[in-house]
Amino acid sequence: MKIFIDTAELDEISEAISWGIIDGATTNPSLIKKAVDRRAGKVTMDEYIREIVKIVPGPVSLEVLGGTFDEMVTQGRLLYEKFSPYGEVAIKIPVNPSIRKDDGLEFDGLRAIRQLSDEGIPVNVTLIMTPEQALLAAKAGAAYASPFAGRIDDYIRAGMGMKRGVDFQKGDYFDHALLRKALERKMDETIDRLDSIPEVYVNSDLKKLVAVGQDNGVFSGVDLVAKILRIYRNYGFKTEVIAASLRNARQVREVAELGVHIATLPFEVIKQMVKHYKTTEGMKNFTADIVPQYRSLFEQK
Ligand code: E4P
Repeated sequence: MKIFIDTAELDEISEAISWGIIDGATTNPSLIKKAVDRRAGKVTMDEYIREIVKIVPGPVSLEVLGGTFDEMVTQGRLLYEKFSPYGEVAIKIPVNPSIRKDDGLEFDGLRAIRQLSDEGIPVNVTLIMTPEQALLAAKAGAAYASPFAGRIDDYIRAGMGMKRGVDFQKGDYFDHALLRKALERKMDETIDRLDSIPEVYVNSDLKKLVAVGQDNGVFSGVDLVAKILRIYRNYGFKTEVIAASLRNARQVREVAELGVHIATLPFEVIKQMVKHYKTTEGMKNFTADIVPQYRSLFEQK
């Protein structure tokens, strides 16, 4: 599995590169704006992005501003021409840039993906929230598809009336297995009270229970990634899946178990991955056990 860093902070990018584990980077306009603003006039946007592209040992995803097919294609070409001479660049295009029901933009994302891909520009399709969108992204020729796992977990929890910052924090692991267990038990209790299968099928309490804890058959962000991988493998699509919007180390482990091609990770999540209480305890014990004779092995003559 490749690891991309999901940030536009040069300090974070170079530190993570120095750990020897970075294969690429993903940015978005908000991340880049924040990073450049922090340098208050000391660097231009152009110089800043060029620097990122130069130091990252792999593709850097740069996002268009969205909108119409023409705008996205023009912006995608411009970003690619401007920055690909300095390193590897992929252009991030939203799978569906539509904001209003009647703006007519629903398929402009797919059209732009097809156009840029046909021109040889690698496209990273962003804001993927369903396996169906990922299927369309692959059909349109995308080099990468980015399902937003954490945001789907947020959405499922919001559907159950849970509030971020109150009932759960952004980085909290979403325990969908526990939730499924609780739901199954509730469903069994309801089914036990009914007499026939048709009654079970039409019972409104059961219908409500079935709808809890999922987004149209997707049970978590990790499940979204699993379904996309299954579909891509079924048909041999070459599009690589970038598990995005990952907020904790356990989610990273779960997408790695699925065999996802790439995980794009915030700096803090990478830092979380290296930690364990027993590792630190073991280090303390080994260090305490060092005897002078053993230390002398390493002393220069
Ligand atoms: C990556 O491409 C996305 O910009 C990022 O992973 C979104 O993460 P978030 O949902 O935690 O904001």
